[in-house]
Amino acid sequence: MNVRNPGIANFGITIIQSRHSVRKFKEEDIPSEFVRKALECASKAPTGKNKQPWLFVIIKNKGTLSEIAKLAPNGRFIEGAAVGILVFGEIDWRFTVEDCSAASENLLLALHAYGYGGCWIAGNQMPYADAVRKLTNIPETHKLVSIIAAGIPDIGGINLTEKIPLDKLVFFEKYQ
Ligand SMILES: Cc1cc2nc3c(=O)[nH]c(=O)nc-3n(C[C@H](O)[C@H](O)[C@H](O)COP(=O)(O)O)c2cc1C
Repeated sequence: MNVRNPGIANFGITIIQSRHSVRKFKEEDIPSEFVRKALECASKAPTGKNKQPWLFVIIKNKGTLSEIAKLAPNGRFIEGAAVGILVFGEIDWRFTVEDCSAASENLLLALHAYGYGGCWIAGNQMPYADAVRKLTNIPETHKLVSIIAAGIPDIGGINLTEKIPLDKLVFFEKYQ
């Protein structure tokens, strides 16, 4: 394979291929410059009409992380995370979920590239979405799309998922 930009491609592909959800974290913190860099990557995601409809809230306060864990039983592990990043999108924008999802994936990939682990916790349409919004004073003009819990991976907590083989999913020209 003749790769046009070998350095960037090799690194980028390795990061994408090796990303996996992490739900168990060590006690240690993530230095704020890495959180900031990861958020810069989130904000570089593509958006419909370049709308960039998002707001991000960084949560480091243990009490607030515990409150989110109580509200979202499917994301209880956020109470052990070094940081929670809440992704909100403008409610009146038709591509808010797509745009904020692209940003959320960029966040996870950037954190992984820096050696931190993370997991997406459902936000959009979840029963606790509005309670989480109120907790952070985000105005009603925005809704919760995702919650990213992140920290230093605790090796024992990693569960690699199986992916559906590509030949079951990809078709040339027509589905058959
Ligand atoms: C829209 C969305 C919602 C998710 N919600 C949750 C969640 O609430 N709790 C959780 O533990 N994982 C959640 N996940 C993570 C998925 O369970 C995980 O990505 C999937 O099992 C594949 O594993 P991998 O990330 O290691 O590839 C969510 C992922 C997405 C994209």
